[in-house]
Formats: sequence, structure tokens, C-alpha cells
Amino acid sequence: MKPVTVARRDDVQAGRPRLVTVEDTRLVITRVGDTVYACADACAHKGGPLSEGKQSGTRLACPWHGWMYDVRTGQCTFPGRGAAVAAYPVRIEAGGIVPELP
Ligand code: FES
Repeated sequence: MKPVTVARRDDVQAGRPRLVTVEDTRLVITRVGDTVYACADACAHKGGPLSEGKQSGTRLACPWHGWMYDVRTGQCTFPGRGAAVAAYPVRIEAGGIVPELP
């Protein structure tokens, strides 16, 4: 997929997940300190919107039933151990966030 800038890093605040769409792919963008992460937005449980969830550090809770994810890896940490959402590498180019989608 052609790389695109989805947001400015300065416009994404820690603890405030943000939904972006790249072509038909919905991503949740999160920031922890100066590091930005990108994961698929649809929860592995029943597709809840992770971008509307509560973020605490590297942990992001799905707003529908509370499954917890590690935004660094996309791995579910509770209670759906072994489940995961796709996590994508992120480049910062001239202050812009560029997720690297396959
Ligand atoms: S849909 Fe996310 S916890 Fe159920």
C-alpha cells in the first residue's frame, strides 16, 4: 500500500486514541510519550471501535466489553489472551505519522 501521512504527530496526544482511515483500513493511532503506534481499529472480540476506548499508557481498553490491548504489539492482554489486532510499524516524516501497511 502506498505510504500516506494520516495525521501530524503534534495533533495526537497521549491518552487520546485517534481513528484514521487509510483506503478502506481503519486504524487507531495512539501516542505514548513521543512514540506513536498504529493498530487495526476493530476489536478482536466483536469488532468494537478501539479508537473510542480508554487508553492508559500502553494499554487500550475496548469500549464495548473491556478487552485490553497493548498498543505496541496489538496483543490482547486481558481477558482474550492469544487474541490480537494487527499492529503496524509507524514512521514519522517531517512531523507526520506514516503507518507502514502491507
Ligand atoms: S468488542 Fe471489544 S471487548 Fe467485545
